[in-house]
Amino acid sequence: MTEAQRIFSGIQPTGYIHLGNYLGAVRRWVDQQSEFDSFFCIVDLHAMTLPWDPKELQERSVATGAMLLACGIDPTQATLYLQSHVPAHSELAWVLSCIARMGELRRMVQFKEKSKGETESVGVGLFTYPVLQAADVLLYRAHGVPVGEDQRQHVELMRDIATRFNSQLGEVFVLPEAWIPAAGARIMSLDDPSSKMSKSANRPNSAILLEDKPEVIAKKIRSAVTDSGREVTASPDKPAVTNLLTIYSVLAGESIAAVQERFVGKGYGDLKVALADVVVAALSPLRERYEELMADPAETARLLAIGAARASEVAATTMADVRRAAGLVPPA
Ligand code: AMP
Ligand code: TRP
Repeated sequence: MTEAQRIFSGIQPTGYIHLGNYLGAVRRWVDQQSEFDSFFCIVDLHAMTLPWDPKELQERSVATGAMLLACGIDPTQATLYLQSHVPAHSELAWVLSCIARMGELRRMVQFKEKSKGETESVGVGLFTYPVLQAADVLLYRAHGVPVGEDQRQHVELMRDIATRFNSQLGEVFVLPEAWIPAAGARIMSLDDPSSKMSKSANRPNSAILLEDKPEVIAKKIRSAVTDSGREVTASPDKPAVTNLLTIYSVLAGESIAAVQERFVGKGYGDLKVALADVVVAALSPLRERYEELMADPAETARLLAIGAARASEVAATTMADVRRAAGLVPPA
C-alpha cells in the first residue's frame, strides 16, 4: 500500500472561529482526515503579528483546539497541535527568510490589507508572516494545503521559496498545492458583502461564530444586508443574496440552482428564515460538544501535546535535511 499523501493547514487562534473558517477550511479538514496524513496546526505564533493580549492568546489557543475537536477533528487520525510547541517552525522560518525576497513579501495582499498602508510602523512579523507560513507547510513536506481563497497567494509564495531552496541548496522540500474548495472558499461578511467574513472585523453582526447560540444566529441572519430587487437569485449584481445562497447551498449539500428553486415566488425574508434553520441545525451539535470540551480544558491541552510530539518527530527529520543542505554543522 502506498502511504497516504500528507496535507497541512493552519488556523489562527485570534478571536473566534466563524462560518467562513468552517466552510472554507475546517469542515473539509474533517472530511479529509481519514484519507490523508493530516497535520492541523493552531498557529499561535501567527497570532502575534498584530498587537495582542497574552492572556487572551493563551485562552483562545486552547479554546480553538477545543472548537476544532468539536468540529470533528479526530486526534487519533489527524495530528492537531499548537505551532509554538514545535520550535522547528520558527527555526525553519529563519532559514527561509534568508531565501525569500523583500519584493516577494511586499506583494502579499494580506500584508497590504493588514498594514493598512502603515508600512513603517507595523511589526516586522506582519511582513515576514508568509515566511513562517511557508515554514509551517514545508517542514512537513505536505502535498496539499486545504485553505480558503484568501490563502492562495501565500501558497504560491511557499512554492516559490521551496523551488529556490531546492535549486540553490539541494532537493529538500515538496512543492505544496493550495486545495481551495469549489464552493464556500470565500464567505463574505453578513453586513458588508464586499468584505470577507473575518475574525478581525470587530463588528458583531458581520460574522456567525461557531459558538453562537441559535437565537444569536437567527438575529445575525435577520439583520444581514440584502440587495435591491426581490428575487432570490445568485448573480454578480446581488452579492449579498449570493453569499446567503452560497452558505445555504454548502451547508445543505444542494446546488445553488436547487436552492434557488426552493425560493421561487418567495422573498429575501423567507430565505433568511430558512437559512437560519439550516445554519442552526449544522452548528448546534458543534456548539454543544464545544461547551462540553471547554468544561475540561486540560483534556484538550493533553490532546494537543500528543499532536505536538508527533509533529516534532516529522519536523526533526526535515530540519536535519535542511541543516545539511544549508551547510550548518550537525551537532557532534
Ligand atoms: P484564519 O482565520 O485567517 O486563520 O483562517 C483560517 C482558514 O479559514 C484559512 O484556510 C482561510 O483561508 C479560511 N478562511 C478565513 N476566512 C474565510 C472566509 N471568509 N471564507 C472562506 N474561508 C475563509
Ligand atoms: N495564514 C493563514 C491564515 O491567515 C493561517 C496559516 C498559517 C496557514 N500557517 C498556515 C494556513 C499553513 C495553511 C497552511 O488563514
